[in-house]
Amino acid sequence: MQKCTVALYGCGTVGMGVAQALLARGALNERIGDRVHLKYVVDVRLEEIRGVLQPPEGLVLTDDLAQPLDDPEVDAVVELFGGTTAARTVVERALAAGKDVVTANKALLAEHGDELFRLARAHGRAIAFEGSVAGGIPVIAAIRTGLVGDRIESIYGIVNGTCNYVLTRMLEQEMPYARALAEAQERGYAEADPRLDIEGSDSAHKLVVLARLAFGVNVRLDQIPCEGIAGVELSDLRYARALGYTLKLLVIGIRRGERLELRVHPALLRHDHPVAGVGGAHNAVCIHGSHVGEIVLTGLGAGRMPTSSAVISDIARIALGTYRTDFAALSPFGDVPDAHLVPFGEVETRHYFRLDCADRPGVLAKVANILGEENISIASVRQQEAAAPGEDVVPVVFMTHRAKEGAVARALDRINQLDVVRGERTRMLRVEDI
Ligand code: HSE
Repeated sequence: MQKCTVALYGCGTVGMGVAQALLARGALNERIGDRVHLKYVVDVRLEEIRGVLQPPEGLVLTDDLAQPLDDPEVDAVVELFGGTTAARTVVERALAAGKDVVTANKALLAEHGDELFRLARAHGRAIAFEGSVAGGIPVIAAIRTGLVGDRIESIYGIVNGTCNYVLTRMLEQEMPYARALAEAQERGYAEADPRLDIEGSDSAHKLVVLARLAFGVNVRLDQIPCEGIAGVELSDLRYARALGYTLKLLVIGIRRGERLELRVHPALLRHDHPVAGVGGAHNAVCIHGSHVGEIVLTGLGAGRMPTSSAVISDIARIALGTYRTDFAALSPFGDVPDAHLVPFGEVETRHYFRLDCADRPGVLAKVANILGEENISIASVRQQEAAAPGEDVVPVVFMTHRAKEGAVARALDRINQLDVVRGERTRMLRVEDI
């Protein structure tokens, strides 16, 4: 049986899970035999890691990046450093040294995937990245193999466990945003810099990866309109719930003729949508294929062991020799065209607006007038009564029919300038009927 000797770079949340699972020689060894040999763990926290791993004979703990790359016995490098600096160097050097690469690094793939894939092919090697998108959900394998005969019409869903956890806890536990985020960090869901989660960049990185696989295009990160959940307020989650909607941070990719719509933002989904009930750190990815129709994949999208599961599956495919064939043959890993995107101003969705308004005659008429002038049709209006006698500012929630982003931006700008609108600004959430 051919052996696969592995060097693991980065022994943090996910790396530790992978190292422990490989050393335990559990299910993987039962399924594929005793092929995978973990020879190196590379990290600067040597003492801490030594204490947890209790390294058996034959496992080298080192902080020397070069040692495993110079070792001809190493067949595969597993990059779990994260970030795009040292990680990029390790991946480039590993490929140049003739080693296959496994990574869960969506930032690296989103920023440098195109050139790294080219480099891998030039060296006859492969990059596997199942852990980069939806934690333990094998969404990459599903698109790469299961749906290889389907034209993907759309792919959308929740791919950030931290944001889903925060939104779920805020609403269910009436928990402040900061506490929900601290819990997500304690559970090992969040990135080292949680702003990447909260501001939507992590989701955008993942959408770049999905767009290449699903639509066969190269897209730059800065081409994807991206909003996170940082400004979301509990009151909006409550109003939306009363109207029959749940808020989720979504990535959305849809074919529109020859163009693609790609975007990341919080969006309201009807309670009965299959993604609306997916809470906590779970992810959900819906794929519409030309033959299969719609499928929904759900599972834990963050955390040590779910993401380790995805990384180990890549290691197994590399060890079995099956992945390199796919990587060499399938078009999304080759030279792909640049994406032709629908400009964001042309994107159409329904909308939720919440205004804090003066409780006086003519206020709603002024707002409705602006919406009418911008060709935005109102689907419903709900005004709450004043919370206490004498209180003259009340929240009003408008739901609209479909309208273009450009028109909505203009309308909001005008509404925010009305003297009857109080508070910082009008809250706007998109409503998705996908
Ligand atoms: N920080 C990411 C998340 C981890 O919360 O989903 C998985 O990529």
